[in-house]
Amino acid sequence: MLGDFTFHNPCRIHFGQNALDNLPSELAEYGSNVVLVYGGGSIKKSGLYDQVMEVLETAGKNVTEISGVMSNPTADKLREGCRIAREADADLLLAVGGGSVIDFAKAVSVSASSDEDPWEKYYLRMEDPDGDIIPVGDILTMSGTGSEMNAGSVITNPDEKLKIGHVFGSEVIPRFAIVNPELTFTVPDKQMRAGIFDAFNHIQEQYFSGEDDNVSDYIAEGMMRNLIHASRIAVKDPTDYEARSNISWISTWALNTLLACGKATDWEVHMIGQAIGAVTDATHGMTLSAVAPAYYRHIMPYGLPKFVRFATEVWNVDPSGRTDEQVALEGIEAMEDWMDEIGVARTVGELGLTPDRYDDVVKATGR
Ligand code: NZQ
Ligand code: ZN
Repeated sequence: MLGDFTFHNPCRIHFGQNALDNLPSELAEYGSNVVLVYGGGSIKKSGLYDQVMEVLETAGKNVTEISGVMSNPTADKLREGCRIAREADADLLLAVGGGSVIDFAKAVSVSASSDEDPWEKYYLRMEDPDGDIIPVGDILTMSGTGSEMNAGSVITNPDEKLKIGHVFGSEVIPRFAIVNPELTFTVPDKQMRAGIFDAFNHIQEQYFSGEDDNVSDYIAEGMMRNLIHASRIAVKDPTDYEARSNISWISTWALNTLLACGKATDWEVHMIGQAIGAVTDATHGMTLSAVAPAYYRHIMPYGLPKFVRFATEVWNVDPSGRTDEQVALEGIEAMEDWMDEIGVARTVGELGLTPDRYDDVVKATGR
């Protein structure tokens, strides 16, 4: 453990099958104007919308809605959300959904009090918030991004072909998160698999940096082993609560800044994945899976001891009688076999990215 750090995460997590029971006590901490933020309708289909509305009504809240937050939320939608939150004089933004909905709520939370254009201020100029920040609480319906307990917010501008993440300070982290893994049972199969790889890659992005003896790396190895194990069960039986609950909790901890403590971190797979997402609007986790193996093969020679450790500690590769290069490569191959087993994209072509748009991707990486 070599690096200095400050760890501060103010998010109160309510986890488990009865987590929603804690919503009334959380709501009691805020004023009466609640803006409910959600996506394209999955929460209406599942019945969660009705459940949440009932709690809000019982709590006597004035509810305004921002609905239709799309996957990879756009700058235009953000501008619309800011108008709605401002007019509603929001005391709380309650995000009910996956990473897109929660990221979007955070972007609104820092932007609604300002007249400046939120895309330009926070995503092009990367400024810090300088006005009032509306508190955010969330009810998570899909695991993977870790957005429920972090300060990240990714917004896409399809006109400019840019997808940019802003990691704000801890004042933007949701105040509370309700994480009931059962709510993830209805996530479409492809999204579940993408979410699993997203969480796995968050761990990798922090793990493959530095060779000091760091407790974060030991935690990372344990989380990767458990995620591999649980994912194998979940792809066969998406309603296995034990597997889904481990996937949920690992996803939360994979990106709530714990693993980054004392580490340099990398994030290059994410930077390339985001550039592909900017051009294709592809599912985030799948953009990472299409890129990660090639990227890790590319950087492996420069960080060989860490890749040897990844192979032996995460994939149980037997190092005896083999060179370090062989062991490291076997680790990456084991990861690829697992990726095929759980069924994630392995090429950018599967994401609809054609060679004539490679230049656009390259341009998008420049930000
Ligand atoms: O919109 P609805 O109808 O809710 O449907 C969603 C959406 O179509 C659906 N879904 C979610 N929960 C469901 C469900 N369908 C049925 N039952 C449920 N329980 O799944 C689809 C995908 O949802 P989305 O929120 O887009 O997925 P995800 O959680 O992967 O979020 C992706 C966004 O998060 C960003 C990504 O770039 C992308 O924009 N990220 C945010 C990060 C952060 N805050 O730190 C880090 C990540 O690396 C990532 O970049
Ligand atoms: Zn990610």
